[in-house]
This record gives sequence, C-alpha cells and structure tokens, in this order.
Amino acid sequence: MTETQNYTRTAVILHWLVGVCVLAQITLGLWMITIPKAPPGVRAGWFNVHKSIGITLAAFIILRLLWRWAHRAPPLPASVPPWERAAARANHILLYVCMIVMPLSGYLGSSFTKYPILYWGIKLPQWGWDAPDLKELSSQVHWITATIFIALIALHVAAAIKHWLVDRDGVVRRMWFTRATE
Ligand code: HEM
Ligand code: HEM
Repeated sequence: MTETQNYTRTAVILHWLVGVCVLAQITLGLWMITIPKAPPGVRAGWFNVHKSIGITLAAFIILRLLWRWAHRAPPLPASVPPWERAAARANHILLYVCMIVMPLSGYLGSSFTKYPILYWGIKLPQWGWDAPDLKELSSQVHWITATIFIALIALHVAAAIKHWLVDRDGVVRRMWFTRATE
C-alpha cells in the first residue's frame, strides 16, 4: 500500500493559523452585530477589534494564497472517488474566494463612511468618502459571503469528520504535523 502524502509543515501552519482566526472572526462578527448601540462606545469598540483582526488576517491570507500559488497540493489517496476529488477541489477554491471577498468587502464598507478605520487604535489613512450606497452594497456582500463561507466551512469540516471516522483513509492526517517535509 502506498503511503498518504502530507501537506508540508508551512501549509499546515498556514491552514490552522488562518482557519482558527477565521472561525474566531466569524463568531466575533455574528456576536458584535447583536450589541446594542447604547451606551455608546461598546459596540464601536468591538467593531474596531473586528476590523483590526480582519486586516491582520488579510495579511496571513495573502501569505497563504501566495504560498499555495507556488506549491501544489499533495495527491489524494487513490481510494478517494472522482466525485469526492471534484467536490473537495470546488470546496477549497470557494473557501479561498471567501477568504479574499470577506476582508475586502469589510475594508471597503468601512472605508465608505465618514469615520476613519482604527487599526489597534491607530488611524489608517482615509481614502474613502461618506457614501451610504457603497457602504450598504459592501455590507450586503460581506453578509452574503459570510453566510456562504459558514456553509462551506460546515461542509469542509463534515467531510473531514467523514474521512477521519468513516473512511479512515489518512486524509485528515495530511493536514497535521506528521512526516512534514518543509
Ligand atoms: C476574513 C475576514 C473577515 C471575516 C470572516 C468577517 C466576518 C464577519 C461576520 C460573520 C460578520 C457578521 C455578519 C455581517 O453583518 O456581515 C461581520 C460583520 C462586519 N465586519 Fe467582518 N469579517 C472579516 C473582515 C472584516 C474586515 C477586514 C473589516 C473592516 C476593516 C470588517 C468589518 C465588518 C463590519 C463593519 C461588520 C458589521 C456589519 C457591516 O457593517 O457590514 N470585517 N464580519
Ligand atoms: C476544524 C476545522 C477544520 C478541519 C478539521 C480541516 C481539515 C482540513 C483537511 C484534512 C484538509 C486537507 C484536505 C485534503 O487532503 O485534500 C484541509 C484543507 C483545506 N482547508 Fe481545512 N479544516 C478545518 C477548517 C478550515 C477553515 C475554517 C478553513 C477556511 C478558512 C479551511 C480551509 C481549507 C482549505 C482552503 C484547504 C485546501 C488546502 C489546499 O490544498 O490549498 N479549513 N482542511
């Protein structure tokens, strides 16, 4: 039997760094929009934390995309049927699309207001202007993409659990620190 090939250590670190931060960022986003507007400050404070994490996360995501662009994914075990390979590929591509659209729409939405973005307390240069329509459009994109992202992640984790508990084919171990090469 041939051994399952793993992702490299760099790919594994980037996967889990971005994955855990994305899950935290989604949880924070969904929670912060339920914070009441009064007393003033609390909601805005958490929005600023979300924006600061989101911008930092965008840097990790760019790093991950560049790294992925330069490296192929290791081949799946021969036992994985074609439809599952196609589904996994589509799921991964769409996850990457969401990883780009989420920070971009968040940043654009926050740029088309009269308030500057505070990045961990530091005012970022304000190139945008107060444009309620563009802000609303960006917010809609952020919200719709968040919903799609959550569904894709749920599917992704369900597939991982199936490979781990039902198929037991070593696919989940590929994204962990065993026999890493780089
Ligand atoms: C991967 C990065 C990000 C993820 C996963 C994420 C996720 C979310 C989620 C789940 C919500 C609640 C649903 C919604 O109202 O849309 C939300 C809201 C929000 N996010 Fe993000 N976000 C990210 C990046 C950012 C960035 C970079 C900014 C701004 C610099 C930002 C600004 C906002 C704002 C202002 C809201 C409140 C709703 C609105 O006005 O659109 N987000 N985010
Ligand atoms: C508990 C949560 C998670 C588990 C158990 C998990 C597990 C895995 C596994 C086993 C693979 C390798 C699949 C293969 O061999 O083809 C993988 C790949 C991948 N995961 Fe996750 N994952 C999790 C969370 C996430 C999250 C939150 C994201 C989105 C930010 C994500 C994005 C990806 C992407 C894009 C790939 C494809 C890697 C590539 O080939 O470039 N994962 N994941």
